[in-house]
Amino acid sequence: MEIRVNLELKAETAPRAVRRGDVIVAIDVLRCSSTIITALTNGAKAVIPVETVREAEKMREINPEYLLAGERRGLKPRGFDMGNSPLEFTREKVEGREIVLTTTSGTKALRRSEGARWVLVGAFLNARSAARKALQLAVKEDLDITLLTAGKRGRFSLEDFICAGAIAEELKAAGETTLSDGATAANLAYQTAKEDLLGTLRRGEHAQYLVKIGLEEDVEFCSQLNRYEAAPIYRDGAVRLWNRQL
Ligand code: MLT
Repeated sequence: MEIRVNLELKAETAPRAVRRGDVIVAIDVLRCSSTIITALTNGAKAVIPVETVREAEKMREINPEYLLAGERRGLKPRGFDMGNSPLEFTREKVEGREIVLTTTSGTKALRRSEGARWVLVGAFLNARSAARKALQLAVKEDLDITLLTAGKRGRFSLEDFICAGAIAEELKAAGETTLSDGATAANLAYQTAKEDLLGTLRRGEHAQYLVKIGLEEDVEFCSQLNRYEAAPIYRDGAVRLWNRQL
């Protein structure tokens, strides 16, 4: 049984992957996926993605114990506890907490993936773990895989594409997969970029914007490959670590 690895390039096309019935790996390197992975690794109980600031505020009205986090134009919305910098999500701040997160494109990619049987969160930080879990689920349930790059406001995102290529590299190595042309292109880009991931990321428009607003450290942090062994799963409205799902 060969598993096909598809590629979708923006949050808005997630429903195509849902219709195919694929295992989805949602990728937003800068910074939504990296933040979710870091928060959960540091002990957050769950991250609840929502699309709008208002939705997040309403959730806190009902659940005053929730932390509110996210960004608009890269910055923390007024009244929120935290922005969208993975470095803010320390164990001291997030352990045992449920976090409502709203970001420009990353949380949209997750919400638009609703209806898929399995949705994983992927970034450079957990590329290997995300690939392994996606493959395990695809093999077990005879499904294909979609690497879904969130993009930025409906546009192509360099860092997400290269990260899709890093995950495709792991899937290819497992030997039971056929890469689509899109996934192959991402993988070729990753092979060129991998010797200097940070340098490549810095060439992207969003990384340059983050540097401009003083968030260079985030770009550095998010460019680390396989820092964490974590496979967060989005299910029933929240992202949790795999072992806390079951
Ligand atoms: C997004 O979802 O668009 C991002 O995570 C933006 C950011 O915080 O850099």
